Amino acid sequence: MELEKNVYRAHCLVLTYPAQGRINPLLEFSKRLEHKGVKVTVVTTHFISKTIHKAEATSIALETISDGYNDGGRAKAESIHAYLDSFRRVGSQTLAELLEKLSNSGCPVDCIVYDAFLPWALDVAKKFGLLGAAIFTQSCAVDNIYYHVHKGVLKVPLSEAEILLPGSPALGPQDMPSFVYDFGSYPAVLDLIVDQFSNIDKADWVFVNTFYELEQKVVDWMAKIWPLRTIGPTIPSMFLDKRLEDDKNYGFDIFKPNTDACMKLLNGQPKGSVVYVSFGSVAPIEVEQMEEIAWGLRMSNRCFLWVVRESEEVKLPKNFVEETSKKGLVVRWCSQLEVLAHEAVGCFVTHCGWNSTLEALSFGVPMVGVPYWSDQNTNAKYIMDVWKMGLKAPTDEEGIVRREIAEHCIREIMEGDKGKEIKKNAFKWRKLAREAVDEGGTSDKNIEEFVAKLVQS
Ligand code: UDX
Repeated sequence: MELEKNVYRAHCLVLTYPAQGRINPLLEFSKRLEHKGVKVTVVTTHFISKTIHKAEATSIALETISDGYNDGGRAKAESIHAYLDSFRRVGSQTLAELLEKLSNSGCPVDCIVYDAFLPWALDVAKKFGLLGAAIFTQSCAVDNIYYHVHKGVLKVPLSEAEILLPGSPALGPQDMPSFVYDFGSYPAVLDLIVDQFSNIDKADWVFVNTFYELEQKVVDWMAKIWPLRTIGPTIPSMFLDKRLEDDKNYGFDIFKPNTDACMKLLNGQPKGSVVYVSFGSVAPIEVEQMEEIAWGLRMSNRCFLWVVRESEEVKLPKNFVEETSKKGLVVRWCSQLEVLAHEAVGCFVTHCGWNSTLEALSFGVPMVGVPYWSDQNTNAKYIMDVWKMGLKAPTDEEGIVRREIAEHCIREIMEGDKGKEIKKNAFKWRKLAREAVDEGGTSDKNIEEFVAKLVQS
């Protein structure tokens, strides 16, 4: 084991929060660290570790700790508060035990890189005299909003009609994350998010899954308060800079993708002609909204690929799948990266989750935003007005994007004048995203500097 320690430049333990949209960015970051000669041990909860697939070839190790719910995870807890309390208590203890185990086996840890949702991991790191780095997996603009809530500068419920924060354009209340705008809707989640900042002043690094060129102003501002560094987009290297060889050997799938059927559909379609629709891994879409999207797709008369999770299938209009089978395909899950990378895809109707947004930006696929909750409204605002990479579909007074609007937005992107400008911008962001992670790019340099500091310490 001593030999192994000598071979690596340092040893990082990467602690994940058990949700697909949060584990994947940390896994991708781990691969980048490993590529730079760092030994990485990824840590998940016992329950979630069963859904991670790891090929023999990778040298990234996988260890588990307990959240107190080994037989079912979060779903088994009475409430979010109960889950988080348990995770903090049992997680801190089992994380400490894991650190002891690794140390006793001759492979001590130098730094804990933790999902910012788990701030107690930083306390454990400091107790053991280790370095600690938080990773924020949403945009810097969104983190900035939550930070101002944490500081009490932005008071919820919101009272102002225009919100002015350093590094951000003027935002309306409806551009705020839902937990801030619709205060009281999910108080436990807002607590969890705001708690990310509770001990952040003690962190040795604060990483954000974004890239400098995308959020320059807000990154510059936040980097004055903390040792903040951009490390994204955390998308598998094989889709971007192609520098990491064993990229395919480690992944996380809650759902099984229907890759063959999707590729068969896309391979037969002309360049930029297909509408891809997905609302991510969590959000439940209202029945009425599903119906309007279904009609909007039909009316656009475009070939489409729509991901409808199994739990959402009952909400599809009756006979929709059969009646549209010549024009489109509905699948329960796909390999979204392969789909977005396919040249047949011309438009992405998305809930604007941060991973999906970054992926669309990185592949240069214009978006129609149909945000649902959380950070998605803010992301949609930036997609339309700041990055000019798509449209945010307007809703009616009931908060529904109607079929005519959905159809209009798809047509505008695919055929309209706005679409032409958006496509030009899409090309620009695609190039900048790739450059950021490629050798010597802004994110690559930040990761390299992190590793160099680890080696020195
Ligand atoms: C949640 C929140 O909804 C979002 O607002 C927040 O920014 C992150 O956490 P989620 O619903 O998981 O996000 O959406 P998103 O962040 O977009 O992540 C979805 C991930 O699943 C993406 O990486 C996407 O590539 C992947 N995906 C989605 C698939 O691989 N296949 C699919 O069929 C659909």
